[in-house]
Amino acid sequence: MTTSVFRPDVLKGLTALVTGGASGINRGISEALGRHGARLFLISRNEERLQRAASEMTAQGMTVGYAVCDVRDGKLVEAAVTACQEKFGGLDVLVNGAAGNFLAPAASLSSNGFKTVVDIDLNGTFNACRAAFPLLGQSKSACIINVSATLHYGATALMLHASAAKAGVDALTRNLAVEWGPLGIRVNGIAPGPIDGTEGMARLAPGGIKEKMVGRIPLKRFGAIEEIGHAAVFLASDGAAFISGHTLVVDGGAWMTGRLSLEEMAEG
Ligand code: NAP
Ligand code: COA
Repeated sequence: MTTSVFRPDVLKGLTALVTGGASGINRGISEALGRHGARLFLISRNEERLQRAASEMTAQGMTVGYAVCDVRDGKLVEAAVTACQEKFGGLDVLVNGAAGNFLAPAASLSSNGFKTVVDIDLNGTFNACRAAFPLLGQSKSACIINVSATLHYGATALMLHASAAKAGVDALTRNLAVEWGPLGIRVNGIAPGPIDGTEGMARLAPGGIKEKMVGRIPLKRFGAIEEIGHAAVFLASDGAAFISGHTLVVDGGAWMTGRLSLEEMAEG
């Protein structure tokens, strides 16, 4: 594990709610925020995974709560935010990490397949921002971090649905930064590149695709989950006090050169 460059107490006293926070990159973000002093509230659909993550993180000395919640349902998200308030007294940092993705040619993707991904990534992000707004408005260190991607910088074959959803997420980041900045709420994003050991890469870079991608990434490797965690600690900290409306790309330069063609993706 790379050493954090941040003070261990840099987020002390803050409460962070992380959607999709019990697995993969979002769990890495949760742990990074927790290691730097934040209390954590994790939400997603799978109760067993939430429970396991919460107990493992508690064993590491973190303060963790959780709620089962599908971010597509605005009422459930409001209830989860209320549960967070009841447990910790407020909310300072919202991380929108819940997402779904899979490889699918646009020509055979069903309407419901497209809608499902947009519902989770984009509508889910809006639902959580909207539900968290009253509490964030009361915080002295309020920020939102939307976990995006670089799929829509240009275009990415077989990921029309997620590309459209994340483009929408980036629009939310900018628009909310404009509307909520005057209330002291900073709104930023992190766009990870390909990250090792994640569900995302298991689905999106199967077989020989990983090797082809690595060859094209300027830094010649996939990223590590903890490297996204460091970016989240920075954006949540006072070090980023004048940063809002920005999506920080953490991808080893991949978005500029790493994209495979439709033919290369199809070959596997
Ligand atoms: P992951 O572990 O599968 O994370 C997705 C999380 O979202 C899961 O914890 C899942 O938990 C939750 N989720 C899905 N649908 C949900 C819903 N309807 N309501 C609530 N929670 C829901 O995948 P990952 O690869 O680490 O991806 C994490 C984030 O990074 C995503 O935003 C993804 O787009 C982004 N990203 C990943 C990569 C990569 O290399 N992996 C690259 C760029 C961007 P439940 O199943 O329990 O609900
Ligand atoms: N290819 C094409 N279509 C697919 C698909 C695939 N691999 N997987 C799901 N779909 C379609 C389904 O066929 C369905 O459409 P239909 O009703 O027209 O048949 C639609 O998507 C919804 O599928 P369903 O399984 O009911 O959705 P869900 O709400 O249970 O799960 C997903 C959401 C599909 C996004 C699921 O993959 C998931 O839970 N993902 C979370 C984890 C993840 O994706 N991690 C990586 C993040 S980068």
